[in-house]
Amino acid sequence: MKLEDVKKIAVLGAGAMGNGIAQVGLMAGFKVAMRDIDQKFVDKGVSSIKDSLAKLASKGKLTEDQVKDCLARLDPIVDLASAVKDADLIIEAAPEDIDLKRKIFADIDKLSPKHAILASNTSTMSITEIASATTRPEKVVGMHFFNPAVLLKLVEVIKGGKSSDESIQVTYDVAKKMNKIPVIVKKDSPGFIYNRVNAPTSLLLQQILDKGTPKPDDFDAAFKAFMPMTPFELLDYVGLDIILHTQTYFSKTLSPDYTPTKALRNLVDAGTLGKKTGKGLFDWSAGRPTINISSPTTEFDATHMIALQVNEATKLLEEGVVDDPKDIDIAIANGGGGIGPFTVAKSIGYETLVKKCEELAEKFNLGVFKPTKTMREGKINV
Ligand code: 3HC
Repeated sequence: MKLEDVKKIAVLGAGAMGNGIAQVGLMAGFKVAMRDIDQKFVDKGVSSIKDSLAKLASKGKLTEDQVKDCLARLDPIVDLASAVKDADLIIEAAPEDIDLKRKIFADIDKLSPKHAILASNTSTMSITEIASATTRPEKVVGMHFFNPAVLLKLVEVIKGGKSSDESIQVTYDVAKKMNKIPVIVKKDSPGFIYNRVNAPTSLLLQQILDKGTPKPDDFDAAFKAFMPMTPFELLDYVGLDIILHTQTYFSKTLSPDYTPTKALRNLVDAGTLGKKTGKGLFDWSAGRPTINISSPTTEFDATHMIALQVNEATKLLEEGVVDDPKDIDIAIANGGGGIGPFTVAKSIGYETLVKKCEELAEKFNLGVFKPTKTMREGKINV
């Protein structure tokens, strides 16, 4: 199979990720079926696509004809069999529940053409485990987009234990055609690159929430000047339910240090999930929240966050998830904006970063914050 053979993509899930991926597929010229389990979810997804296309048209990035053409190729649908029966690539963007994903993959394995590639947009979960629910594990890959998928360039193309080189190549080529920057993840490992590198910083934020100080506003105030979206705001933007799923998965697969904190559980139990519910750590009911920057924390700064990112990135190299440190920098720079951790480490110096990791490991009594051997050697060149 080659890129030219991919004419129709089926996206399973019409939520924030699903509708973003569907839109990216439409803008790249593919026919796209966007499927969800209920008409109201499908309708909401279509309306997000329309809003986003209109925004792009208003900025002159698309013509009115291109918008019409995109919408004409969109098939919003509830029936799974009809969505996948003639699809060449299926991208699953369902909730982060391994049993649910395995059930979907078992179903689409039966319902889709034999040549179709089955991709999961999972944030963290094992592609190999998902693939084992099908009779075609060589055609199962990870294809992980970043929110908002329409704007962010990174796509992680993840090799499951049995993914064929051909399936990886076609997925990579489709991502390129979507005008994305794909990075191949060579070893199927929890959180792949982007979410793994950010796992300890997310953990740090949750520990701070649990402690109750500094408050999200005061923490974010220290980052407002140089980040497009500040750390706590980003948790809300991604969705606290997704953060909880990710954290639970990491606690089982990486380290019990990631066990979700009470503060996070309480927020999710109360249904305050962030942007999607209008309220999380901040109030989103009138759009992006205004961060109160009057009293920025002095207890934590950007170097703490960078130290944890660089440290976790060195684990990916030590574990063979990625061979080239440049791939990690490309992934981080394009998954959320910003600069790659190894590039930043060069200017700060590894000695300083090691000290910051040690300080945080001791303060929170968490082994995952401890500096690695590679970090202590500090010899990575990008
Ligand atoms: N479609 C079209 N345009 C959009 C859009 C969309 N979906 N979302 C935002 N825009 C436009 C806005 O309308 C705005 O246009 P304007 O400049 O003409 O007003 C422009 O983009 C910029 O938006 P904002 O003014 O709201 O503010 P920003 O400049 O901060 O951009 C952002 C918004 C692109 C979301 C930016 O804040 C950002 O990149 N944030 C970081 C997001 C991030 O890190 N995502 C990764 C999360 S992790 C993940 O997804 C992995 C998963 O597994 C959990």
